[in-house]
Amino acid sequence: MSIAAGLSLPTPRRPEAADVPAAAGRAAVGGWRRVAGAALVAVAESLGGVARSWPGMVDPACRRWDRMVASPALEAWVIAWPPGGAVELHDHGGSSGAVVVVAGELTETSVVHRGRRRPVLATTTIRPGRPVHFSGHHIHDVVNDGDVPALSVHVYAPRLTSMTYFRMTDGAVEAESTARFPGTPAVP
Ligand SMILES: [Fe+2]
Repeated sequence: MSIAAGLSLPTPRRPEAADVPAAAGRAAVGGWRRVAGAALVAVAESLGGVARSWPGMVDPACRRWDRMVASPALEAWVIAWPPGGAVELHDHGGSSGAVVVVAGELTETSVVHRGRRRPVLATTTIRPGRPVHFSGHHIHDVVNDGDVPALSVHVYAPRLTSMTYFRMTDGAVEAESTARFPGTPAVP
């Protein structure tokens, strides 16, 4: 049995109806933070097929997103990226995450080490079959550098409750603003 199958995630529906059954929620709350990033990737991959037919995600004029699955312990988003679509440098408020690209490709720039004067950055191409996962301390930006739209599934555990945005100033990574999502869906 795969990791994702073991979690008994439901077939995702539109956000107003989406919820992880109590059993899956208890499993997540019981040990989600200790589950390897591979488990988050497995969940994201299990949603890839549904993401391809998710309403409103074809040929986006701007970056678009929708929440596929939601519980306090875990949430999953589908995001459509037009060529040039991007999100600024940000963290995930302590949530771990995984990103699976199901169409096109994305370029991720991660802050490996913030440092005081010279942060260390790493660039990764995320494409079908080459997912990424990250801890709750991860800071990155993501852009569709390609000339065709991209489609991705993002899984966060626990669900996003805040995101801090950063800027590069004289080579340093400095926090600029924090968006909080106490009881409302995030803006992933
Ligand atoms: Fe992110």
